[in-house]
Amino acid sequence: MNPTLAAIPAGLQAPGTHDAPFEPILDVVDLPAGALVRISRGDLDLLLANTPAGIIATDDRCPHMSAPLSIGVLEGCVIACPLHEGRFDLRTGETVQMPTTGGLDADGRYHLVWTPGGREPKADVPGKKAEARRLTRIRRLRYYPVRIVDERIEVALPAGS
Ligand code: FES
Repeated sequence: MNPTLAAIPAGLQAPGTHDAPFEPILDVVDLPAGALVRISRGDLDLLLANTPAGIIATDDRCPHMSAPLSIGVLEGCVIACPLHEGRFDLRTGETVQMPTTGGLDADGRYHLVWTPGGREPKADVPGKKAEARRLTRIRRLRYYPVRIVDERIEVALPAGS
């Protein structure tokens, strides 16, 4: 029986993939439940994740500052980035925990540097670092259509990938 495929969250399908051809990229057996696999095509790095919601193909690029999510930790559908403790729900594309560096969230709202519960929020020291955080746009995850054919995972990739 084929594994479940997760739905692409509304508005988050990667540009150029609506009519793109599907390419076989991995055997189903190589993506067991809970697995994260990075597949690169040219300068496109894909993350294949086998979550409880099904198989997902998205950018292997943290929405915060682009670290590879494939070396993060997947708990349920939530992936923890290896770099700044950002956590993102792969089922919805939403931010679950703001990265410790702060920055803009997906809706353009600015967050100060994250502070553990019960402590006073850290002041955002003026200067280039604070300015860089204010201008760093947290990009939404982009999702790629997936299908299973003959026990292979196929992904629709934009032309030129
Ligand atoms: S790069 Fe992932 S949380 Fe910052």
